Amino acid sequence: LSLESSMTRSETDEVGGVLLPKRVCDRWDQIWNFRARPDDLLIATYAKAGTTWIQEIVDMIQHDGDTEKCKRATTYLRHPFIEMPTKYFAGLELAEAMPSPRTLKTHLPVQLVPPSFWEQECKIIYVARNAKDNLVSYYHFHRMNKNMPAPGTWEEFLEKFMAGQVLWGCWYDHVKGWWDAKENHCILYLFYEDLKEDPKREIQKVLQFLEKDLENVVLDKIIHHTTFEIMKDNPMANYTFQPPAVMDHSISPFMRKGTVGDWKNHFTVAQNEKFDEDYRKKMSRTSLTFRMEL
Ligand code: A3P
Repeated sequence: LSLESSMTRSETDEVGGVLLPKRVCDRWDQIWNFRARPDDLLIATYAKAGTTWIQEIVDMIQHDGDTEKCKRATTYLRHPFIEMPTKYFAGLELAEAMPSPRTLKTHLPVQLVPPSFWEQECKIIYVARNAKDNLVSYYHFHRMNKNMPAPGTWEEFLEKFMAGQVLWGCWYDHVKGWWDAKENHCILYLFYEDLKEDPKREIQKVLQFLEKDLENVVLDKIIHHTTFEIMKDNPMANYTFQPPAVMDHSISPFMRKGTVGDWKNHFTVAQNEKFDEDYRKKMSRTSLTFRMEL
């Protein structure tokens, strides 16, 4: 058996109607009872919306632009992925062992976030990415990451995404749920497309949110260190440290394209029309809007 074929693809289950890896559901009580601390910062995203990117930006801000300090460990060790209990990312244990102040990561939809984050009034940064690019990125991620269920064909994955039958649940509910939550909680809601368009402006929003003030030269250093090209070559951020049996970058690299509008290379005209029609219905009752191109 090759390493790849010996890896079993992830089994799934549900919590509150949201599809999650079975191993997450199996530990749900522990995850739900997670004890947040008041000075925790939570980074929340739908998977493939730019999590790793904002994590690197936040880490650079917290370390005053010191790139060496930001290379102290891999992304998942620096920022525990709270609900993820694989042997590589024992999120809960990593978080519990981590001294404050902690920066934590989650892909949970807002209604499944452990209540202690609200009770402790933790700051949260949410990054959203337009549905089509998010979907394309998620499709390729399923191909290369053997911890995800097999995606099937592009057409099949597209249908599953529209039906919300993908891990961490329905994209439409995720982005809308977090959008509504920011009315009552301390949430900075950012967009992948804005970060791409003007990283300086968006990083300044993060600085303000974290009540940090950095000199212009440091800000420029952060912008440079967190560009796609630099992060793609950074072994502490590009997920090449994962064993090849889990992530096979030869199928599709984790740092794949990092652009806005790559969906145009995937959707047929018919798929696009169908997607748009369904999208209009699902997104009709929200003030949340996305840019699908720049
Ligand atoms: P693509 O597959 O479209 O290239 P996440 O970190 O949430 O899993 O998201 C991964 C996506 O963010 C991938 O998208 C990846 O290339 C992109 N990404 C990571 N770092 C980036 C950066 N510095 N600039 C732009 N995109 C980045």
